[in-house]
Amino acid sequence: MERFSIAVVVLLIASLSGLVSGGRDLTGDILRLPSEVSRFFRGGDADENGSNDESQGTRWAILIAGSNGYWNYRHQSDVCHAYQLLRKGGLKDENIIVFMYDDIAFNEENPRPGIIINSPDGDNVYKGVPKDYTGEDVTVNNFFAAILGNKTALTGGSGKVVDSGPNDHIFIYYSDHGGPGVLGMPTSPFLYAKDLIEVLKKKYASGTYKSLVFYLEACESGSIFDGLLPEGLNIYATTASNAVESSWGTYCPGDYPSPPPEYETCLGDLYSVAWMEDSDIHNLQTETLHQQYELVKRRTANDNSVYGSHVMQYGDIKLSKNSLFLYLGTNPANDNFTFLDENLLSLKPPSKAVNQRDADLIHFWDKFRKAPEGSSRKVEARKQVLEAMSHRMHIDNSVKIIGKLLFGIEKGPEVLNTVRPAGQPLVDDWDCLKALVRTFETHCGSLSQYGMKHMRSFANICNAGIQIEQMVEASAQACVNIPAGPWSSLSKGLSA
Ligand SMILES: *[C@@H]1O[C@H](CO)[C@@H](O)[C@H](O)[C@H]1NC(C)=O
Ligand SMILES: *[C@@H]1O[C@H](CO)[C@@H](O)[C@H](O)[C@H]1NC(C)=O
Ligand SMILES: *[C@@H]1O[C@H](CO)[C@@H](O)[C@H](O)[C@H]1NC(C)=O
Repeated sequence: MERFSIAVVVLLIASLSGLVSGGRDLTGDILRLPSEVSRFFRGGDADENGSNDESQGTRWAILIAGSNGYWNYRHQSDVCHAYQLLRKGGLKDENIIVFMYDDIAFNEENPRPGIIINSPDGDNVYKGVPKDYTGEDVTVNNFFAAILGNKTALTGGSGKVVDSGPNDHIFIYYSDHGGPGVLGMPTSPFLYAKDLIEVLKKKYASGTYKSLVFYLEACESGSIFDGLLPEGLNIYATTASNAVESSWGTYCPGDYPSPPPEYETCLGDLYSVAWMEDSDIHNLQTETLHQQYELVKRRTANDNSVYGSHVMQYGDIKLSKNSLFLYLGTNPANDNFTFLDENLLSLKPPSKAVNQRDADLIHFWDKFRKAPEGSSRKVEARKQVLEAMSHRMHIDNSVKIIGKLLFGIEKGPEVLNTVRPAGQPLVDDWDCLKALVRTFETHCGSLSQYGMKHMRSFANICNAGIQIEQMVEASAQACVNIPAGPWSSLSKGLSA
């Protein structure tokens, strides 16, 4: 009696099959060394007087989860885990600024109320996490104000900002959905790459840090920095994926290793758990950013399968010779656990991973599958799957039709799918990109998390010199009916 239409089931199976494949478990062998040896490693970047000059400054961190909704459990879970790691590393609460919507721990879907885990056997990572910016205060504007240390620019929140000086080191970690040139936010508008780069340049110009490390998990995350982040700002960034591919959720239902059976959602993201599970177990005075980059790259590539992504690095690559200790501190309990490159060899075989863009479907599907026949939960889950699928089809079709209206039936798909060579930014005119997205959303409804994947098409329309009036006309023709959507309330649009 709970029957899907055949078409939807076929579609669903097509998109779910093949979702599940490799990820790695990294808790392999750790080398345990006598304390003299670990002292030797620790001495690594000390000067002649034994003081570690670089580390005289203060360590600051901004941790930000860009999503909300239980089906996005993993992003806030990643961020909570990062907080625990930094606290164990010795950073103080006053120097760690957390942005998270905070709708997970006490969500009615959460099988363990008040608890968030980031791996199947993981500890509660929610404990003690500062609620600096939660709910509707998780905004692009507040994120930028926190980076710049500009309290007057804040709206709401704890008021905590990166109040850094010239000798300080800053670590920024972001986890969410993204698309070419954009990162998600639980509030509108989303974050455009160009604006983030402007803020980083401004921070640099203010002379208030020695170096800054940015770890970024999102689909197409390479597009945020590729061709945009210049050298010379003392910024080193790594991203979960290159500019043209998805990033991957991990510890998902149906994976191996899978979450405890009562969880109907992914617990983490592949790149994110790779850097954190590595950092959790080592003396970070003995591990450089570069060594971690190599290790995370290996794990996230997932045996170079289609269920992995290419971890990338941007900006001042030479900074990657610095130890992780400069940014993350180190847990004294790991003093004897030195990082050696041989750790790379002990990576365990791939487990499984889920395309970030399909992780919401996995949640609704798993919920549907497990709910008792005839229960209202089953009805609700079915409705959620159907809505998600029909929203996807509507967005995909609308973009396709607009392309054909603007460039012709044959040329349309070609223009939309063009990918610029690596090293070139996605688009030349970011204001055009924003205006096209606004126009699309006005006529066709919210792009939502899923729709971010079409940002490259909008960018290509700008790059082809299309005027806004032409876009208005094409959007109006393509989207005669906007499907009314509870879906639009689930995920905010990109428009300002
Ligand atoms: C590290 O190893 C030494 C012996 O080599 C031991 O005395 C010390 O307690 C160990 N430290 C930790 C934190 O385990
Ligand atoms: C080491 O200490 C001496 C004496 O205090 C000082 O003159 C020198 O500048 C110090 N060297 C460094 C690299 O800090
Ligand atoms: C801080 O933000 C306010 C409000 O946006 C702005 O007027 C001011 O110029 C900013 N200050 C600095 C130092 O950037």
